[in-house]
Amino acid sequence: MDLQTLQHQCSGCTRCPLHKGRTHVVFGQGAAHAEVLFVGEGPGQSEDEQGLPFVGRSGQLLDKYLFAIDLDRHTNCYIANIVKCRPPQNRDPLPEESEVCMYWLREQFRILRPKIVVCLGRVAAQRLIRQDFSVTKEHGIFFDKNGTLFMGTFHPAALLRQPQHKPNAFADFAALRDKIGEVCDHTY
Ligand code: URA
Ligand code: SF4
Repeated sequence: MDLQTLQHQCSGCTRCPLHKGRTHVVFGQGAAHAEVLFVGEGPGQSEDEQGLPFVGRSGQLLDKYLFAIDLDRHTNCYIANIVKCRPPQNRDPLPEESEVCMYWLREQFRILRPKIVVCLGRVAAQRLIRQDFSVTKEHGIFFDKNGTLFMGTFHPAALLRQPQHKPNAFADFAALRDKIGEVCDHTY
């Protein structure tokens, strides 16, 4: 099974009620052999319209942070979300919606086998690292889970609302660059 085949299956998913409000399933985007996986929360309005992750204002900011450490969503990393369909009014995904949709993210993991997973914001970090993860207190720290490194950092949308956290986020990306140099074979 490759990502394209999985994406095709996911594009018709009706496993949870979020399918009712969507325009497009936002499966993910990136390099087929990415060693670094970024995980956000779920599609917003622009993502739902275009069917691609992080293409609105927060996506432009994410692309800048990626560029700063020589990552590019088309060549050497992959971007996905906890839920693939846009929650109404951009509310947080409900626990049951996240759990049901994790089926797809687990399959994406199984295919990619990333070396490093970066959780963008609280929703992804609490789902993938620890239920009581605090982005403010624990951003930038790498946690080894069965041989895969997980790190949580600020959600780009949070950085747009609270620009005072940008230096911290930038330091997290610098730490990510160093970690990629240590553990990845073909990202740089
Ligand atoms: N916010 C997210 O968490 N994911 C996206 O894809 C876009 C905005
Ligand atoms: Fe399926 Fe996930 Fe969309 Fe729910 S959010 S319908 S589980 S793809």
